[in-house]
Amino acid sequence: MKKTKAFKHFNSKYSVDEYAEMYKKFRLDIRYPANVKRLEIFVNLLKKHKPKNIIDAGCGAGMPLIYIKKKGFNIRGYDKAKNMVIKAKENLKENKFSSDLIFYDDFENPKKVKNSSVDCILGMGAFYYSKNFKKTILNQKKKLKRNGRIIFSARNRLFDIATLNNYTKKFLDDLYELKYLKKEWKQKYISLTKNFSDRRKYKFKNIDEKGVVNHKPHNPLTINTEMKKLGFIVENLYFYHYHPLPPLFENFDKIYYRKNSWKMEDPSDWRGYLLASAMVVDCKKI
Ligand SMILES: C[S@@+](CC[C@H](N)C(=O)[O-])C[C@H]1O[C@@H](n2cnc3c(N)ncnc32)[C@H](O)[C@@H]1O
Repeated sequence: MKKTKAFKHFNSKYSVDEYAEMYKKFRLDIRYPANVKRLEIFVNLLKKHKPKNIIDAGCGAGMPLIYIKKKGFNIRGYDKAKNMVIKAKENLKENKFSSDLIFYDDFENPKKVKNSSVDCILGMGAFYYSKNFKKTILNQKKKLKRNGRIIFSARNRLFDIATLNNYTKKFLDDLYELKYLKKEWKQKYISLTKNFSDRRKYKFKNIDEKGVVNHKPHNPLTINTEMKKLGFIVENLYFYHYHPLPPLFENFDKIYYRKNSWKMEDPSDWRGYLLASAMVVDCKKI
């Protein structure tokens, strides 16, 4: 499948309208409000850490930034999709804020944010769209002051175990190193895993199936080691977008499924390691 760069995907009218609307309407028939839950987790962390200045990298249509600004924080943001920036500036004006709070920049290599000038960088649904995640994080680090903080959301790789679909198959194939198994065992193993559903056949498409460039999901058990190599300590993880049953069931009765997901949302529940598709990573620069 031909891959589309993330900012090009998000530059479409559909995406811009979607990101401008999703924080206003709580409609389980339209979509699961995972990003609303994510924003709540970010705001609670900001209330805890009280950073003096904040940059929202990949701010989209600006609705989370406006919400955070209304809570009294000093925040600016940028995006690489021009239409997102245009919409975000309109949204700022509508909310009586300066349109200069949002500008055009690239989180892979930000040019308009001064080095060592920021207390806290937010990546809400942003950095997993990097071509090069490590480089992106290292470039964010340059912008942070001493003891600065980066808070970002990431996809949870362990969720693949609980989905019982083609993601599970891929996860287990890697875990059991299928390619090294002797032929006879390989066949037995393949027959054991053949009944996992193929999510590509069902209605709800995700970013992989739409062919958007993104980074591979992170393992919550190893993210601390990964971030340490980049010069950060992970202080905590917060899980969101819980799944009460494998995602296939959402196709059978989406409202019932989503109501049950919402009831489960608890960022600190251990079940998040397996049943939440995403997590917020709260890190401090070493
Ligand atoms: C999933 S949306 C999230 C938007 C917003 N943070 C929110 O939570 O509503 C991801 C955003 O990242 C932006 N993006 C993708 N690649 C980018 C890049 N290299 N630099 C800056 N923004 C980028 C997209 O244009 C899009 O607006």
